Amino acid sequence: MIILSFESSCDETSAAVLSVDENGFTVLSNVIASQIETHKLYGGVVPEIASRAHIEAVSGITYQALDEAKVSLSSVDLIAVTAHPGLIGALLVCVNFAKSLAAANGIPLVDVDHIKGHIAASYLTADAPKPPFIALALSGGHTAIYLVESYVDYKIIGTTRDDAIGESFDKIGRIIGIPYPAGAGFDKLSREGFILATGDEKNFYKKYRKSEAGKDKSMLLPSPALHDGSLDFSFSGLKTAAINLLHRFEQTGEPFDKSLFAARYTYEATEAVAGKTAEACRRYPGLDIAVAGGVAANSHIRAKLSEVSAQNGVKLHLPPLSLCGDNAAMIGAQGYYEYRAGRTADSSLNASALDSIV
Ligand code: KG4
Ligand code: ZN
Repeated sequence: MIILSFESSCDETSAAVLSVDENGFTVLSNVIASQIETHKLYGGVVPEIASRAHIEAVSGITYQALDEAKVSLSSVDLIAVTAHPGLIGALLVCVNFAKSLAAANGIPLVDVDHIKGHIAASYLTADAPKPPFIALALSGGHTAIYLVESYVDYKIIGTTRDDAIGESFDKIGRIIGIPYPAGAGFDKLSREGFILATGDEKNFYKKYRKSEAGKDKSMLLPSPALHDGSLDFSFSGLKTAAINLLHRFEQTGEPFDKSLFAARYTYEATEAVAGKTAEACRRYPGLDIAVAGGVAANSHIRAKLSEVSAQNGVKLHLPPLSLCGDNAAMIGAQGYYEYRAGRTADSSLNASALDSIV
């Protein structure tokens, strides 16, 4: 089966071609047109600009995806498109494009949830997880833990009650001068901070808490893990405390090292994600863990989750960095399972900004 898929929920327009057979998926192409350089000027995504840029990019990247895959539209068996959640104007571009293409060529259409798509990135790896498993969705808009009961049935077992982890890295990163999107720069700066704090180039994370900088009370930040027996998070408290801390440094002129600040912030975020993941492993013993979303690229979170999985004797699935961010290949993978479950869409398909996995 050949699948043509689309993604335009935020600031990446993407089209991909996958083939799937009894041996699994093969990504024949995965073209991504990023708008980061445009939005960088404004320090974040401007929805109207994003929608226009998707319109400009979508035809070109579709031709490119088909060309790279050496596939013609007449051999496409299924079209999959992200329909929710995301920026409504942005989503609408690929939803309408995919609908038209499907209708004009008589190709079946499926709509895909963006977060399910992120989790499906793991299905494109050599050793794909099989349901049931635990999935962590860590992105610009989501911080959630799911019990993936089947390829199409998800149960949410933990979530953020306010802000998402990626958005918090972006906001705090922006304040300390890291260009949008700040996640990757934050990761690198934190690494410098951990090494500065511990003097260790390798085991810096493990040694951080006991280092002088790790114990420094003037850098105190609250954990985003809620201590109420749930698997939930609150990133707004961490974000506000970090902003207040930065204001204090600014107002008092107290010198502070940005890398040590970034390290502390990353440490609290990582420990919270790791703690809730460990608790999920205890509640659902023996299940593999799959990590998904842009923040799944974070080197500290990846390393810490490897420890958590080893301690709990379960397997960890980390997608390659190229499949952590938004891309259409992951949407094609989930689209295949939606199609197999008979969940096809028709011309009444609409986009929705809202979460549908609740
Ligand atoms: O999944 P994604 O591409 O888009 C959404 O669905 O939101 O995630 C984007 C987020 C941004 O907040 C970006 O800063 C963050 O992923 N990100 C990272 C890293 N690389 C990207 N966050 C932390 N560490 C990284 N290495
Ligand atoms: Zn995403």
